Amino acid sequence: MSELIRFGVSMDKNLLDNFDHFIQEHGFHNRSEAIRDLIREKLALEKGVSTHMVIGTVTIVYNHHIRNLTERLTDIQHNYQKNILFSNHIHITHEYCMEVIVVVGEERKLREFTNKIGGQKGVMMALPSFLALELEGIDLKDLEMGDRHHH
Ligand code: NI
Repeated sequence: MSELIRFGVSMDKNLLDNFDHFIQEHGFHNRSEAIRDLIREKLALEKGVSTHMVIGTVTIVYNHHIRNLTERLTDIQHNYQKNILFSNHIHITHEYCMEVIVVVGEERKLREFTNKIGGQKGVMMALPSFLALELEGIDLKDLEMGDRHHH
């Protein structure tokens, strides 16, 4: 984490009221936290598909009764094994499974992975949640799991 800097923000009262309502609804603890989150999201969107190193999760929900789906999902994950730190499988119901896959690597590659998973018939959800390490001032070399991922 880099140095923490305070700065003032001027805002129209109506906009601020709406923002405070948004903060309450989304369970943020304070305005700073909410502003940080929105800025990160906006920057990530603006960057588009980037070559930034990211860490995060891909949460998937799928129907394991769909023919060959489990095998296809396993194949895809094996093709990205260098990017996958671990995954958890939860049997939600008789038919539906959820997996939380913890990933690290180039954002572009992880988005490609997420899209491949999400594109399989029977996958209801493939939700990426990535933190861009560089934008946070974190060097991948400092991560404990970094050794596994030097190319
Ligand atoms: Ni299952």
